[in-house]
Amino acid sequence: MTPLRVALAAAVVLAPSITAGQGPAGSAAAAGGGPACLEVIAHRGASGYLPEHTLPAYALGYGQGAGWIEPDVVLTADGVAIALHDVTLDRTTDVAERYPDRAREDGRYYAADFTFAELERLRVVESRPGRFPHATFRVPRLTEVLDLVEGLNRTTGRRAGVYPELKSPDIQPGLGETVLDALAGYDLPILIQSFDAAALAALVTDLPRVQLIASPAQLEPAGLDEIAGYAVAIGAPTVLIYRDPAIVARAHERDLAVHAYTLRADQLAPEFDSLAAEVEALIAAGVDAVFTDHPDQVLALAAAHGAACSPASEAGADPR
Ligand code: G3P
Ligand code: CA
Repeated sequence: MTPLRVALAAAVVLAPSITAGQGPAGSAAAAGGGPACLEVIAHRGASGYLPEHTLPAYALGYGQGAGWIEPDVVLTADGVAIALHDVTLDRTTDVAERYPDRAREDGRYYAADFTFAELERLRVVESRPGRFPHATFRVPRLTEVLDLVEGLNRTTGRRAGVYPELKSPDIQPGLGETVLDALAGYDLPILIQSFDAAALAALVTDLPRVQLIASPAQLEPAGLDEIAGYAVAIGAPTVLIYRDPAIVARAHERDLAVHAYTLRADQLAPEFDSLAAEVEALIAAGVDAVFTDHPDQVLALAAAHGAACSPASEAGADPR
């Protein structure tokens, strides 16, 4: 079996409703009728309600019914994979108060300059106005996120997945391998994503990969052909899909699912005046999954369109 066939087979077995034309979401979309259901990915956890990339935010996203939990991943000085969006700590932690002398010449505080033990002293702060008001939670290891989701799958009987993003692997040597090593110890549906095409394509793994799209050129036929050589899906900005919904059909023709990022109830796309309208547009376009800071609201809106995926059951999602 070729590596691509292995990856597709893994995606179908592990995450049947999130691949194009393979599971419930893709099959109807490929037929042009919109998806049978829209998978919901808790973006940085349920980050509209609790600070991003904290264990409480991930747990809330799980509890709200998201099928996937999304940690972004960077490395510490001692090589620990942590859940963090930026390679710097300034925006989302109180690092400047805890370690005022540790900024680089550019004034920024880099995760790569701190050991995990040092980072345990930090508290995560909310960076978006109007959201959670307290700095209470800490930066978790990736393995804590994996423990959380695998454990909740055990106690609830669901089978949610983890969707880690390799952040800036070009400046973090060993990131991909460290993440793969961490994942190897878990029985979880996994999708690995990155904006870095070279790093994603070079990963030595049978786990399914998702190419995040940074440029419209990647969504042209030649770009999609290349991505289809190593990935099972693309992660595309909602605004590009709104402007050109035919992107979805072009991807599906190549067996690439389409995962849109990012829906936020408190920051709508300029073209829309409600989250409901955004969800409706994505469903009409045939999108298979969506990253959102507000999983509960998107799930409810998808349900109102008859497009909510059922919570994956242990028996239903993984027949092994
Ligand atoms: O990974 C999908 C989406 O999260 C990409 O954007 O910047 O939130 O990681 P970002
Ligand atoms: Ca991300």
